[in-house]
Amino acid sequence: MNRILLMGPPGAGKGTQAGRLAEELRVPHIATGDMLRAEVASGSELGKKARSYMDAGEYVPDDLVIAMLSERISRADARRGFVLDGFPRTLPQARALTDRLGNEDLDVVVYLEVPETEIVRRISGRRSCPQGHVYHVEDNPPETEGTCDVDGEPLYQREDDGEEVVRNRLRVYREQTQPVVEFYRGKGLLREVDGTGHPDEVQKRILEVL
Ligand code: AP5
Repeated sequence: MNRILLMGPPGAGKGTQAGRLAEELRVPHIATGDMLRAEVASGSELGKKARSYMDAGEYVPDDLVIAMLSERISRADARRGFVLDGFPRTLPQARALTDRLGNEDLDVVVYLEVPETEIVRRISGRRSCPQGHVYHVEDNPPETEGTCDVDGEPLYQREDDGEEVVRNRLRVYREQTQPVVEFYRGKGLLREVDGTGHPDEVQKRILEVL
């Protein structure tokens, strides 16, 4: 299995687990949230268009995200497979991905189940590095406070991790992404995994499912 999609609400641990899984399988971790944040940081045309949606906790328009993802999975390093994180999150994106992959559809869709109270706790303690490495002030602190263990970059709190924006992200998720979960259930690809507990335990459950 090497074409994997990780799904789940904001803060469920998709990025944390997708990174581990991609390393294990030696395939790229493709996270549209990280790609869009890099576009915003670089000041590109795409980043300028995406920023206001992201800051408000809304989804970036489908055509922009589909084009970005399509280009990314065409690259040579994705030929052996990939772990997708954060795409697709609307039905038009899911249909576009199915069309794009053709006969080589996803192998499995892992859905991380985490209660909303835990999501809020995780997001409020999250610290990120500009390259996409993720920490939590209590559960997964860096060795040196405020600094990424991997590349030494300063850690920051994401603009969209404030309480009001998180509430909006959860609403948008329920309205637009829950139907995508049902889309993959209908295709028989969905595997639900308990996303609570230590990240090592969650990883073990995911590997068991795979
Ligand atoms: P994106 O970056 O994808 O945000 P998200 O889906 O809301 O998910 P998060 O990154 O918040 O959480 P996660 O599930 O990856 O959890 P993490 O591992 O970090 O997207 C951001 C925005 O970009 C969107 O709102 C939208 O505007 C735009 N966008 C992106 N893709 C798009 C698309 N396809 N279409 C349209 N717009 C798009 O973990 C969270 C915290 O919990 C961390 O601190 C972590 O250390 C901690 N943690 C992880 N696992 C555990 C555990 N097991 N126990 C305790 N703590 C844990």
